[in-house]
Amino acid sequence: MSEGIALDPLPRDELLAEELRIARLREALPQIRAVLSGERNVISLQATLACLLWETLPWCNWVGFYRRVDETTLKVGPYHGTMGCLTISLDRGVCGAAARTKSVQLVPDVHAFEGHIACDDRSRSELVIPVFDADGYVRAVLDLDSPIPNAFCEEESRILDGLLRETFTERDELRW
Ligand code: SME
Repeated sequence: MSEGIALDPLPRDELLAEELRIARLREALPQIRAVLSGERNVISLQATLACLLWETLPWCNWVGFYRRVDETTLKVGPYHGTMGCLTISLDRGVCGAAARTKSVQLVPDVHAFEGHIACDDRSRSELVIPVFDADGYVRAVLDLDSPIPNAFCEEESRILDGLLRETFTERDELRW
């Protein structure tokens, strides 16, 4: 699979309509599952997922993980895109809110989100999904940012949440 994922090539600055985005993500899912199926190393899983989601969701300017290093701190992990903040406190930003509240943060307009952290000031919308271990502890968050407003929907959020749960929460013998 050195070619990565087999999907139609798209320009990075255009947002597909919601139904087409969902169809593209559904088309990518079995390919992503096949690539990740035998892997148990979390960094390898996160790095590969960041790469494959970067190809699947080309309207993003940042796709990747922040990893929880203690009760109050996230540190940047594997990602694609413009340079991200290295450290995010759990009491700050959209990523901090997702980790602290253990809930998905779907933000159609980052300017309307109190405390949003502008690592890349082109970002206009974002989706952040917590990554749980088998004990229900938030180990990381998946952060997707786009320079286009309203670039993510509830159905994409549900699909990605399911993918994260099967990849990180329900997988035996994972090496965190
Ligand atoms: N937007 C995030 C910060 C991380 S980056 O943009 C890569 C936030 O407010 O949590």
